[in-house]
Amino acid sequence: PEFWAVIPAAGVGSRMRADRPKQYLELSGRTILEHTLDCFLDHPRLKRLVVSLAVDDPFWPTLACAGDIRIERVDGGRERADSVLNALLRLEELGAQSHDWVLVHDAARPNLSSFDLDRLLSELANDPVGGLLAVPAKDTLKRARADGRVAETVDRSVIWQAYTPQMFRFGALYRALADALVADVAITDEASALEWAGQAPRLIEGRADNLKVTRPEDLDWLRQRWSAKR
Ligand code: C5P
Repeated sequence: PEFWAVIPAAGVGSRMRADRPKQYLELSGRTILEHTLDCFLDHPRLKRLVVSLAVDDPFWPTLACAGDIRIERVDGGRERADSVLNALLRLEELGAQSHDWVLVHDAARPNLSSFDLDRLLSELANDPVGGLLAVPAKDTLKRARADGRVAETVDRSVIWQAYTPQMFRFGALYRALADALVADVAITDEASALEWAGQAPRLIEGRADNLKVTRPEDLDWLRQRWSAKR
């Protein structure tokens, strides 16, 4: 099977309170999105990359990678799942087969290590379903009541945080996402679409620093880390 990558990058990122979508904020001299794409462009196994962008995105054409022939651009949709489905439609046009693997990775996770990416590929190569990078919960977890008080403490030993990339067979992912969208179920990652279709994706433990830039302090933390690395 071939390996394809999809980067949904059509979100607005309102929790960052910035003047532009978070994937276009600067990290170490380049945009977050460029760093994210690099994680995949450097990988020898990946056949092609599809990035989903907002229809009127004014920032993409200014990036050096906008002309890269290894990258296909498609329009994003209302929800992340719509953006991913549009990218899968393009993969079909590019010749993706049902048993090919698709890796879906958040545009806002620029700190993916090649170690984690290789680990995901090798651990899942013979898996019937596929799976995702994830991190075991480390804090004690509370379920909240509507009034902001603790209802109960949750058993953290069975709780994981879902990260990306998430890797599934093209055919199964396409069907699960399309069916879930028609049924109007809330889908916040690819694994939840597969779960809804009755599958049990595998959890592959990844590094916690493959974080999704969501709040201003996430970007502060990455900037400090990256400047210390140089
Ligand atoms: O908002 P959140 O951080 O959950 O978004 C995760 C990823 O999905 C981001 O890379 C964002 O750009 C993308 N997204 C998208 N289309 C949407 C909403 C989010 O491609 N409609």
